Amino acid sequence: MVNLSRRQFCVLGTVGLGAALLNSCQHQSNSIQPVASKAVTSASRYQSKNGLLELDLEARESLVNLGDRQASLLTYNGQIPAPRLEAKPGDQVRIHFTNNLDQPTNLHYHGLHIPLTGKADNVFLQITPGEKLTYEFQIPENHPSGTFWYHPHLHGLVAEQLFGGLAGLFIVRGKDEEILELQAAQEEFLVLQDFALDSDGKRSSSAQMSLMMGREGETIVVNGQVKPNIDLSSGGLLRLRVLNASPSRFYRLSLEDHAFYHIATDGNNLNEPVEVNELLLTPGQRADLLVKEDKKSGQYRLLNLPYNRGGMGMMGRNNRDKPITLATINYSSSAKSLALPTKLNSISALPEPQKVRRFELNHGMNPSVGIAFQINGEYYGSKDFIDTEVQLNTIEDWELINTGVMDHPFHVHGNAFQVISRNGQSEPLLAWRDTVLVKRGETVRIRIPFKDFAGKTVYHCHVLDHEDLGMMGILMIQDKPT
Ligand code: C2O
Ligand code: CU
Ligand code: CU
Repeated sequence: MVNLSRRQFCVLGTVGLGAALLNSCQHQSNSIQPVASKAVTSASRYQSKNGLLELDLEARESLVNLGDRQASLLTYNGQIPAPRLEAKPGDQVRIHFTNNLDQPTNLHYHGLHIPLTGKADNVFLQITPGEKLTYEFQIPENHPSGTFWYHPHLHGLVAEQLFGGLAGLFIVRGKDEEILELQAAQEEFLVLQDFALDSDGKRSSSAQMSLMMGREGETIVVNGQVKPNIDLSSGGLLRLRVLNASPSRFYRLSLEDHAFYHIATDGNNLNEPVEVNELLLTPGQRADLLVKEDKKSGQYRLLNLPYNRGGMGMMGRNNRDKPITLATINYSSSAKSLALPTKLNSISALPEPQKVRRFELNHGMNPSVGIAFQINGEYYGSKDFIDTEVQLNTIEDWELINTGVMDHPFHVHGNAFQVISRNGQSEPLLAWRDTVLVKRGETVRIRIPFKDFAGKTVYHCHVLDHEDLGMMGILMIQDKPT
């Protein structure tokens, strides 16, 4: 048994970009000028020790330095992004949570395969202002290593609380530690968030937001910094672990003059690296990307390219026009060139499903609030029974049909899935995901194994205003046939 009384220490220090914010000199030749953030914030990290990850986590409103200005945001432990949690498969996790917000909240562990009931990944818990709750669960021994995250999940307040800043990484370190090429790479975490702030650094009220489209803010931050510089010291190979923690904004990432080697989708490695020139990351999704530092010494901008996620009339204009610089990566070429890994995982295709279901995503009317986002013509809360009941230890295909005018990233709690086809075309990439983009007009078929944990959970659109406006359903995983 581990010594349970022992509180884990918090490693304070510069994490990821924090170390890098020193170079404020920019090339003058580019039309889009990155402005370096001056403030260096210390993000903290908690690691498990002797099989236990234990920490205090407090949700509260705090004044935070966002680049050159102060903003009043919703934070965990006063930090944007929230502390990064790191544990290993088999570890016990104990989070002493306090809600010091002025509204109820809770915690969701996005992508983790852990119990869905009790004081684990239970999105039906409500923690009222001033209340405390200790979350406790074990990460299964066979849990994949990967990039996961935590955020609030109280229906109706999810978009508002994420847009306030409440989000942090949860890293599981397992088999990856045995891949030597990955261990040799320099690891950087990029948490992407956006905020809408007035001139006093106060959060603009959501009444001013386009909730229907999903709220987006003009202030985009990477690890709580506006256009930071990332200085790479070692040279060789860079591993970017990117999280889209924005409630609605999509990021279409590209790095000037460099390809990405895509090595993980959400919380699972791909079988081998896949070379891509850009990568679309919807809200909720994560990607691990390798970058070879094999160009001449210099600065390369990490860009967010325009993407149109639909909408009606003017609503779709957000983020459509020009590339935005998210961060600048600096390196000096070095003689050593590090090898890419060749084998990262051994995913095999799932067997045929026992059942096929259809989910139509669109919007409609809710007599009490007006517009509602719906799944199969029902909005969340419009009825009191379970929307979807499945059997534990079965495999199902879900056909996700978007008949609306906006893109919807569809997310299922608790169990990862494989994408089988898009518009009838079989999906070439064998991968595990927990969030998949269903573009307007598109039909995406996913295959989900329901494993290990019975109980009630949810599936929903990860444009969180859509989720709060009803595009969520209850999933009951039964452990014996009824
Ligand atoms: Cu990232 Cu149901 O959530
Ligand atoms: Cu989730
Ligand atoms: Cu949506």
